Parts: sequence; C-alpha cells; structure tokens
Amino acid sequence: MTITLTGFMGCGKSSVGRRLSTLLSCPFIDLDDYIEESQGRSIPDIFAEEGEEGFRRIECSCLEAILTQEHDMLVLALGGGAVTFPASAALVREHSRCIYLEASKETLISHLQGRTGRPLLEGEPLEKRIDTLMLRRRSIYEAAADHTVCTDGLTPIGVARKIKKILG
Ligand code: S3P
Repeated sequence: MTITLTGFMGCGKSSVGRRLSTLLSCPFIDLDDYIEESQGRSIPDIFAEEGEEGFRRIECSCLEAILTQEHDMLVLALGGGAVTFPASAALVREHSRCIYLEASKETLISHLQGRTGRPLLEGEPLEKRIDTLMLRRRSIYEAAADHTVCTDGLTPIGVARKIKKILG
C-alpha cells in the first residue's frame, strides 16, 4: 500500500512523510526529489525550461512510475500542485490512500517565509499568492484525499502519529 501526502507548499508533507515512514518502518519518497534526480535538473530549471504544463507532465510520469510499482508499504510526499493535474489526481486516487495535510495561512507563511526555490510563489507577496492558489486548490485537495489532518500547532512527529492512528 502507498500512503500519499498532499497539501499546500509549506504544510509539512516532506518532514511529516519522513517521520511517518519511520513510524511505519517503510521507505519514503519525496516526489520533488525523485523528479529532480530522474531529470538531472532542479524544479526551478524544469519550470523555466518547460513551463508549468511541461512540469506537470513530467511530474505525472514520475508519479505513475512510483505508484504502479509493487510496494508492501511506501510513504510518498507529493508536490503541492500534483493533484491539480487531473491525470495525476486519478493515479493518486486509484493507487494510494491519500492524506491532506491542512494548514492555516499563518502556519504556511511561517514555514515558507524566506525560503526560495518554489517558482509558483514568485512575483507576488507571499500572503497574496497563498490566497490566490488556495482558493483554487482547497477543493482539489479535499477531493483527492481520503482523510484530512489539521496540522496547526503540531510538530511533524505529532502529525505523523495522528496519521498512523487514522490508518489503523
Ligand atoms: C508546487 C509545489 C512544489 C513543487 C513545485 C510546484 C506547487 O512542491 O512541486 O514547485 O504547484 O504547489 P512542495 O509542495 O513540496 O513545495
């Protein structure tokens, strides 16, 4: 079984995913890292060279390669926009149990402030960018997920323990 973690940039998918994989004694894959390794270039470079649409196609084919392999148990942290691409959302729904890590704008800002390397957060004040993207994405995350976990005020290990309980 594969557990996928979705949610907005900065909600803690990678740090929670690592802790969850330790709790479940299973491997962990970060989709962004997998994409960068398989492409031999960084996410910002892929966006600059292929545009968002090109990035989504690459992301989708990497996702398919991971999700269609046989796994006893795997934790996979998705990129924040993966499920906005319908073919990727369909793969996630078909091949995984998906957890939406919900976080308030304040939590997202505190995690994202001063961090670079996310092309979709450039060009506008962070708070405005989060508002715009969240308006579009919230319902997409909810539709993709089997469970929603509120992460506000919790440490990554606290969130991972909550998820483990939900998984039973
Ligand atoms: C994106 C999120 C990023 C990365 C890319 C696009 C998005 O991943 O995949 O920059 O569209 O929300 P993280 O959510 O891990 O930052």
